[in-house]
Amino acid sequence: MNIAANPVIQADQTIYLKDYQQPAYAVDSVALDIQVFSDHTKVNSKLAMQRQAAGDLVLLGRDLELVALRVNGMTLTAADYQLDSEQLLILNAPAQAKLEIEVIIHPESNTMLEGLYQAGDLFVTQNEPEGFRKITFYPDRPDVLSVFTTRVEADKKYPVLLANGNLLEAGEVGEGRHYAIWEDPTKKPSYLFACVIGDLAVLRDHYVTSEGRDVALEIYAIEKDIPKCHIAMNALKHSMRWDEEHYGRPYDLDIYMIVAVSQFNMGAMENKGLNIFNTSCVLADEEYTTDAAIMRVQSVIAHEYFHNWTGNRITCRDWFQLCLKEGLTVFRDQSFSEDLQSAAVQRIDDVAVLKAHQFPEDSGPLSHPPRPDHFVEINNFYTATVYEKGAEINRMMATLLGKEKFRKGTDEYFRRYDGQAVTVEDWIDALTTGSGVDLSAFLKWYNQPGTPKLEVQGTYDAVTQSYRLDLKQSLKANAKYPNLQHLPIPVALALFNAETGEQYTLHCSALSENNVKDGVYLFDQEQAVIEFTGVTEKPVVSLLRSFSAPVNLKFNYSDDELAFLIQFENNGFNQWQATQTLIERILLEDQPAQSYIDAIKATLPAVMAKDPLLASRLFDVASEGYLASRIDQDYQPHLVNQKREALLNSLAHGLGDFCKQSYLSLDAALQNDFSQAMGVRALRNIMLSLMARQGDTQAFELADAQYHGSNNMSERLGALKVLVWNDAPQAKAALQDFYNRFKDEALALDQWFMVQAAHPKATAASIAYLTSHPDYDLGTPNRIRSVTGGVNANPVNAWSFGVQHFIELAKYLDEKNPIVGSRLLLLLTRWYTLAEPQRSEVKQALQGLQTEVKSKNVIETLNSMLEA
Ligand code: BES
Ligand code: ZN
Repeated sequence: MNIAANPVIQADQTIYLKDYQQPAYAVDSVALDIQVFSDHTKVNSKLAMQRQAAGDLVLLGRDLELVALRVNGMTLTAADYQLDSEQLLILNAPAQAKLEIEVIIHPESNTMLEGLYQAGDLFVTQNEPEGFRKITFYPDRPDVLSVFTTRVEADKKYPVLLANGNLLEAGEVGEGRHYAIWEDPTKKPSYLFACVIGDLAVLRDHYVTSEGRDVALEIYAIEKDIPKCHIAMNALKHSMRWDEEHYGRPYDLDIYMIVAVSQFNMGAMENKGLNIFNTSCVLADEEYTTDAAIMRVQSVIAHEYFHNWTGNRITCRDWFQLCLKEGLTVFRDQSFSEDLQSAAVQRIDDVAVLKAHQFPEDSGPLSHPPRPDHFVEINNFYTATVYEKGAEINRMMATLLGKEKFRKGTDEYFRRYDGQAVTVEDWIDALTTGSGVDLSAFLKWYNQPGTPKLEVQGTYDAVTQSYRLDLKQSLKANAKYPNLQHLPIPVALALFNAETGEQYTLHCSALSENNVKDGVYLFDQEQAVIEFTGVTEKPVVSLLRSFSAPVNLKFNYSDDELAFLIQFENNGFNQWQATQTLIERILLEDQPAQSYIDAIKATLPAVMAKDPLLASRLFDVASEGYLASRIDQDYQPHLVNQKREALLNSLAHGLGDFCKQSYLSLDAALQNDFSQAMGVRALRNIMLSLMARQGDTQAFELADAQYHGSNNMSERLGALKVLVWNDAPQAKAALQDFYNRFKDEALALDQWFMVQAAHPKATAASIAYLTSHPDYDLGTPNRIRSVTGGVNANPVNAWSFGVQHFIELAKYLDEKNPIVGSRLLLLLTRWYTLAEPQRSEVKQALQGLQTEVKSKNVIETLNSMLEA
């Protein structure tokens, strides 16, 4: 009973939030038996189902070979059910139905890395959002929760047999095969099901929860990678403690397992008690892993762990509510990371991601509300808007409530909805009840797209010694969302005495429509005025401190005021923001660079001594990609490139000897913590690249010495980039050395590909050299992304030969791995901003692709992109 291939998508495949209906049947229990063989896998399932609402008994299934089907012991024949490429409908199903289903699937030829798939010697699952239906027929939707028992059977050459929950029994079955039975006592939706079959080593530890539960912690990876699992293990224990302390959430099972997989579409997945991770998000060791990647590992470990409560114990009613679990969990992992390192720098990095990805997404053809109201392919909605803007909405509410009330709100959420599949409304409702503060206006943030513009004007009256702020908010008209409403915007602010640099204590006059509490003003009208009294001298105002709301702030700062903020603002985020505002003026409005260079020079020494990591961020010169996202038409990549290069050159020359002096005097080994050492490494790499710009002949010698003299990946890679990207005489040998050293270390080798792909003078031929290299592998998304990511680092290249590379890949992936293919195309979303003739050229290439692709994923993305 093979199932016909999917027909090409019809327009009516759109799914709407308004059509949500409760599932007709509940599943009381599931017993799965998964038997893996070399050329197929048998999946037998027993479902105890029970009618709970009107409707048919429908099971979803895709690419399954149905072998047998019994209901309450009776074998069904073709007349008893309807089967198509998407679902199995059981005719005249009884109210109580015990289903037994036998299917055959093919993980060994599953290239989509969704459902159960074989990756090298390892069999793993990825079921969120709709992968479980590729394992067996099931009501594969997040509002059907059940307890799962899983028997896994395989050849003994795969000694590790894992599934969710606790191990019940294990044993041999003859013919060199063995089995294990796992039972997960917590009800869960099918997207959280996981199993793993393979030959892996394990790092073990344990953790005693605040309730006294002794939890076994296990991280599985290939033998040689086990030493690279310690950082993740520590991050896991740290996360467990953090969630107890900050949210009162202890872990609820006796075992927590993490499995590292080298072929994985995403970063990681929070399957109950059995997380599956891309190796890039779990393996970490200073010798092989950059500092940024180490920080990422810690935050992803925390993220997936935090899902145990926000996602697993309380899950989403439907996939429109995705930001309920992702937005909240990202907010939680960001807060965790703020506690781990310099909080200001964490916030800077998170906002940089928001502005570089979410803002452009929300201003173009892919713009959608954090909670969309329709989709064709849900995999296309794991977006920056759902994740990052979703996190910002939670942050705004947390900022407004303050720690104590926010905690009361989340306590109420967990108390009320534990064990349920809920909606964004439920979340707001619990927060409101728990905190005693009406947050219902924040629902508007979830339901409409677009980045609000926040225009503010400041007026000082020396006679009355008062300072007045006029605020106005607006949203760009959007044809698809005609009823845009104004939003509640928490504005964190401070006033500084421009003469002394001191911060004023804030006093509001009666004229203010709303008081400023703890330095936060809730701006929830279209226009408002606040007035501060007792302001003895013309002040400098700092607005939106720590980026208290995801809006586009317009305030007419003078260069002097920005320079003042760079020097005197004690909110590290806003200090950084002032550098970025100045830099954007230089790069997008052709302002001279001197004010920025002077401000940096005046500020750096002090910041470098206090917080080297923050100091390194003050050098952030917005990437060409980010600058491009601020240009809405007639974008010419080479012009942006030239301007940015000119600024970097002026900075290098303006800083003069300071670069070499700093490089030689900074020493990561002398720092007392990882965060500071990381800052020093970042600063030294920046100094090295600036010295190369100065034409300092010693720069390459120092880089070469750093490359060969260090066992730390950030230092080695930083030096390699300086050598390779400047075509230094030492570059070739260093690249060869890097290859020899790391040829068996996939993640480090990804960096080797990336550095070359990101060469400013890369060409179609140099990319072809990489993609025809024996170590290039189209079956490993990380390797594909190391080249596409490298190319994308230079927009001049990305918009020329890069387009062809991306489009050819998308064509290939459309068939082999549409999830990755669709995401890859996002690199070309802003084609419509290009100046002619490039604009038309890229458009034509996309239209050409449109006629050839077949997957829902790629078609939906292309259709939306071309609507621009
Ligand atoms: N639940 C997701 C994994 C996922 C992503 C499943 C897309 C299906 C489709 C997981 O919790 C997640 O969000 N992972 C992120 C990393 C995280 C730190 C934001 C990822 O995989 O990129
Ligand atoms: Zn997540």
